[in-house]
Amino acid sequence: MATPSVNPKMEYRRLGNSGLKVSVLSFGSWVTFDAQVDDNLAVECMAAAGDAGCNFFDNAEAYAGGKSEEIMGHALRELGWPRWSYVLTTKLFWGIHGDVPNMRNTTNRKYLMHAVDGSLERFGQDFVDVLYCHRSDPETPMEETVYAMSEIISAGKAHYWGTSEWSADEIRAAIDIADRHHLHKPVTEQSQYNLLERRKVEKEYARLQEDFGYGNTIWSPLASGLLTGKYRDGIPDDSRAALDGYGWLADRLTNPEEVARVEKLRPIADRLGCSMAQLALAWCTKNPNVSTVITGASKVSQVVQNFDTLDVIPLLTDDVKAEMEAAVKK
Ligand SMILES: NC(=O)c1ccc[n+]([C@@H]2O[C@H](COP(=O)([O-])OP(=O)(O)OC[C@H]3O[C@@H](n4cnc5c(N)ncnc54)[C@H](OP(=O)(O)O)[C@@H]3O)[C@@H](O)[C@H]2O)c1
Repeated sequence: MATPSVNPKMEYRRLGNSGLKVSVLSFGSWVTFDAQVDDNLAVECMAAAGDAGCNFFDNAEAYAGGKSEEIMGHALRELGWPRWSYVLTTKLFWGIHGDVPNMRNTTNRKYLMHAVDGSLERFGQDFVDVLYCHRSDPETPMEETVYAMSEIISAGKAHYWGTSEWSADEIRAAIDIADRHHLHKPVTEQSQYNLLERRKVEKEYARLQEDFGYGNTIWSPLASGLLTGKYRDGIPDDSRAALDGYGWLADRLTNPEEVARVEKLRPIADRLGCSMAQLALAWCTKNPNVSTVITGASKVSQVVQNFDTLDVIPLLTDDVKAEMEAAVKK
């Protein structure tokens, strides 16, 4: 039976303090699935990631209003991988039923219980491996959310749970509540982290990582493509910045100061003989508190190039890393 390959070059890291092993480079579907990647291309992209040893596939209820989970579920069936061979994740918070009470911008018990069932139905799966609260909800008592997430695990609908873009204080409070009530604790964050966006992961979460070994499955490692250097000469037609509805992102991706900052990395990539994308992805893997770097791609060629970063990681000595950090320093 075909499974994602176990690539000897791939490092499998523990997801935080849990026993779950995840490939240090992984694959997610934000923006791409549905808008740029259809059913067939999703199968090809996930096959390419699986061939490179990727075992972690990330999604969210809100991506493409639920369509992204359907596309990934379809791809997993097409690929025929046994369920034990991969880690499937999704995230709940924003809701997909419009502006109705209890089904939008919340992690209350009612929403979480309905939403997890909806995600599983769209995936065509009995459980996900990691279920995240996609954001924190200041209007729901932390105890209610922690109890609900823990019960979802006890019901077998998820194996682990995590947070995404929560504050360190909120995560600490959730762990504390779970500890006191013998509930399942969250094991990982999912935060933005890349060469241009470092503060939260490196500073705010430092104590959490030290005290609890809290994991992090980081997102936008290429700052949505900015770190590939592709926006040097404007917006390519087939890029994220050219998509309808992403004008807010296009402004950042084409900001002359940001583009100039990124260009300082080009000579380093040239010297190492790799692409700027690979350089930026390799840098993310060098942080030992990063459990996995979730990559995104609109094309199979990008998936292949991004996973070939495994050959670049050994080239990133401490000196090269320091040189990169100095190059983009504001
Ligand atoms: N928890 C959260 O709040 C949150 C938020 C965002 C994302 N995420 C997760 O993190 C994953 C990754 O985020 P992301 O997609 O923003 O990652 P990213 O690596 O910063 O950006 C990926 C995009 O960059 C471009 N790209 C990728 N590789 C390239 C290459 N080698 N050469 C040229 N262009 C390349 C592609 O866009 P184009 O080809 O269209 O230009 C691709 O879709 C998401 O899929 C999702 O699972 C989580």
